[in-house]
Amino acid sequence: MTDDARTAPRGVGVVVVAAGSGTRLGAGMPKAFVPLAGRPLLGWALDTVARVPGLRSVVVVAPSGLADTGAPAWAGVTLPEGAVVVPGGAERTDSVAAGLAALDPACDVVLVHDAARCLAPVAVFVRVVDAVRAGAAGVVPGVAVVDTVKTVDARGVVTGTPDRATLRAVQTPQGFRREVLEAAHAGGAGATDDAALVEQLGHDVLVVDGDPRSFKVTTVDDLAHAERLLAGA
Ligand code: CTP
Ligand code: MG
Repeated sequence: MTDDARTAPRGVGVVVVAAGSGTRLGAGMPKAFVPLAGRPLLGWALDTVARVPGLRSVVVVAPSGLADTGAPAWAGVTLPEGAVVVPGGAERTDSVAAGLAALDPACDVVLVHDAARCLAPVAVFVRVVDAVRAGAAGVVPGVAVVDTVKTVDARGVVTGTPDRATLRAVQTPQGFRREVLEAAHAGGAGATDDAALVEQLGHDVLVVDGDPRSFKVTTVDDLAHAERLLAGA
């Protein structure tokens, strides 16, 4: 082993994006702080993040008005040891970039996770990290699509029916070699997930098995579903 290899940074950094407003949930507060079984969604998400093997650094990206962890909204949220909180931006991409900038330099693998996917199991995090460590530039968890999907034009007229077997609905955590994600955010814009920015750079992004429990809490029905899962119903 060379000196460089011995001193090279190693460790997993997780950026948890929690700065969205939760418009579709309509709870009158930012979605990550909405209670689920008595504790904020963010608290559930962070409990799992804290158990990720090889974890070195956690950055929570919070709404700018809630970046003070002493605020009452943070009751029931346990920050993983050494975690830092930074304010987010107008779009999800801005929030991810803010989190990435605050990440401990001693992380060679970065995961980006939606606080809204608060029940994503730790096994998914492990699959994503393992695939990045095995050499992938980018890794996303995905699940098969159950509906037939159509592409449409501006008038709503169907332009195609992609073969369902080739489709995956993707979730978070999405994992990347750190330098790849940094380059993607330095150059990219206008993507709905981080993997798309990495794809735009020409890197292969690998899909590993996701999990139904990694669904995103978006609507009131999703919140009720999460409550039922936690109640074991
Ligand atoms: N997010 C963020 N910063 C933003 C927008 C979104 O950190 N400017 C985060 C959300 O907090 C969430 C994740 O990105 O954990 C996925 O976004 P989404 O489900 O769209 O959440 P919201 O934007 O809060 O919800 P809505 O779109 O209904 O307002
Ligand atoms: Mg949103």
